[in-house]
Amino acid sequence: MRAVPPQILYLVPLLLLVFISSSCARTSPSLVSPFHHSKSLRKTGHQLIKELNLHPHLDINIVKSYTNSSYLDHEVKVTQSGIVEKQLSLQVLGDSGATVHDLAQHAGYYKIEHTVDARMFYFFFESRSAKTDPVVIWLTGGPGCSSELALFYENGPFKVTNNLSLIWNDYGWDKVSNLIYVDQPTGTGFSYSSSDEDIRHDETGVSNDLYFFLQAFFKAHPDYVNNDFFITGESYAGHYIPAFAARVNQGNKNKEGIHINLKGFGIGNGLTDPAIQYKAYTDFALANDLISQSDYSQINQQIPDCESAIKACGTTGTTSCEMALYTCQQIFEDILDIAGNINYYDIRKQCQGSLCYDFSNMEDFLTQSSVKTALGVPSDIDFVSCSDTVHQAMLDDWMRDLEVGIPALLEQGIEMLIYAGEYDLICNWVGNSRWVNAMAWSGQKNFVAATNVSFVVGGKEAGVLKNYGPLTFLKVHDAGHMVPMDQPIAALQMLQLWTTGKLTKKDTIILP
Ligand SMILES: *[C@@H]1O[C@H](CO)[C@@H](O)[C@H](O)[C@H]1NC(C)=O
Ligand SMILES: *[C@@H]1O[C@H](CO)[C@@H](O)[C@H](O)[C@H]1NC(C)=O
Ligand SMILES: *[C@@H]1O[C@H](CO)[C@@H](O)[C@H](O)[C@H]1NC(C)=O
Repeated sequence: MRAVPPQILYLVPLLLLVFISSSCARTSPSLVSPFHHSKSLRKTGHQLIKELNLHPHLDINIVKSYTNSSYLDHEVKVTQSGIVEKQLSLQVLGDSGATVHDLAQHAGYYKIEHTVDARMFYFFFESRSAKTDPVVIWLTGGPGCSSELALFYENGPFKVTNNLSLIWNDYGWDKVSNLIYVDQPTGTGFSYSSSDEDIRHDETGVSNDLYFFLQAFFKAHPDYVNNDFFITGESYAGHYIPAFAARVNQGNKNKEGIHINLKGFGIGNGLTDPAIQYKAYTDFALANDLISQSDYSQINQQIPDCESAIKACGTTGTTSCEMALYTCQQIFEDILDIAGNINYYDIRKQCQGSLCYDFSNMEDFLTQSSVKTALGVPSDIDFVSCSDTVHQAMLDDWMRDLEVGIPALLEQGIEMLIYAGEYDLICNWVGNSRWVNAMAWSGQKNFVAATNVSFVVGGKEAGVLKNYGPLTFLKVHDAGHMVPMDQPIAALQMLQLWTTGKLTKKDTIILP
């Protein structure tokens, strides 16, 4: 582990104050994806994970020794590309609707190049429509939450039922794309290492690991190299994705390896530009009646301090960024203290009983030894749905501005889609809309001036869309933080239109 910086010690009293002042007025949601607010800073991993209705046996998959033969087995099987992969043989109920014969559905491990020993776990699902469809990679946020959350609850080929069977998802993104899910950073989900040195602390580490994975993936699957390639994800992936897209672009320019046909990147309810997004919390909360006008004025008094703290963090700060997180997170905490027991991923919902998110079926499914065997997971590796250790290790990264690398990508015609479910508080649409409009690039004026158009799905407005050139912003109706879970048809149509360059033609209705 990294040495604890001295500043942490002096932060402790501040944390205690935060803890006392926020009291126990609310209990936390049994949530979902990713992006736990600062309570995770002061909580044990155990408490955190309980609130997510997730109960991993381990906090992080750092496996201290290779005494067990199943690891050794794994070691032996690593192929030249660094990938060990197997075809899935899971029983799935219902009808896939696939028009493709012998659908390739793989789970595998990649031994990450330039790491001590990190093994990245991934799923690959061939498109149910055509192998020539785009290749899409999905990243769940956290930081430290497994992408299986999205696979089984949002946009994967199948869902887990209450009796732990799998059933085909009619709106899985594999209906229109060749779909990859990865567990990262190292230690998350089924990914593991034997060394603490492989724990990631920033987007450089994260994006290198992902880039090397892609190289190995396309080496092992040359049939897909020429397909269009898109990066997608949610929440804290608003940090991962711009960094990963820039890394792929850099690799292409420097001819580092296989050319990756990067066409675009899409972020759903992400955290990308904290300076703008933290300031938007009170505006969103006031507009949605979560706080009163006088609460608004009072909480806003913290904004100048938050702004200067974020400025000090910049794009590369370290402990200054952690300081900024503690300072700014209080804005969010204060809103929640007033708003009561709301689900901050979907303000229409309260966080109790059946309205709360409950992802325990996924965990129960993935801890079965028969399932682990089918996935090629060593028997000694436990599924870590959300790793508090991975989360904590990324805290310096949280307040950094990831918007800065985006204009260069847009200028090269690489597409960016920012979409946001309108009822999410934590990465709300207001903050996302603002940073997208504020971003300086050659098309900024035209983007800002562009008119809103209706995003029509099944004859009904499912969202409001704005586009200019490679940049598209979409606010999605009747959805919270996890758009593909709340609006699966709209999300699938969005993906299909966007990856085929048709999202801006509002009347192109292809689904359902
Ligand atoms: C090693 O793996 C076997 C199954 O292959 C398992 O039963 C055993 O508990 C493991 N031992 C340790 C020390 O984890
Ligand atoms: C599990 O539930 C599904 C419906 O959700 C049902 O079709 C299936 O028969 C059930 N399987 C068992 C073994 O009970
Ligand atoms: C366009 O839609 C956004 C929400 O996506 C809204 O904030 C903005 O006011 C709209 N602009 C106009 C000109 O109506």
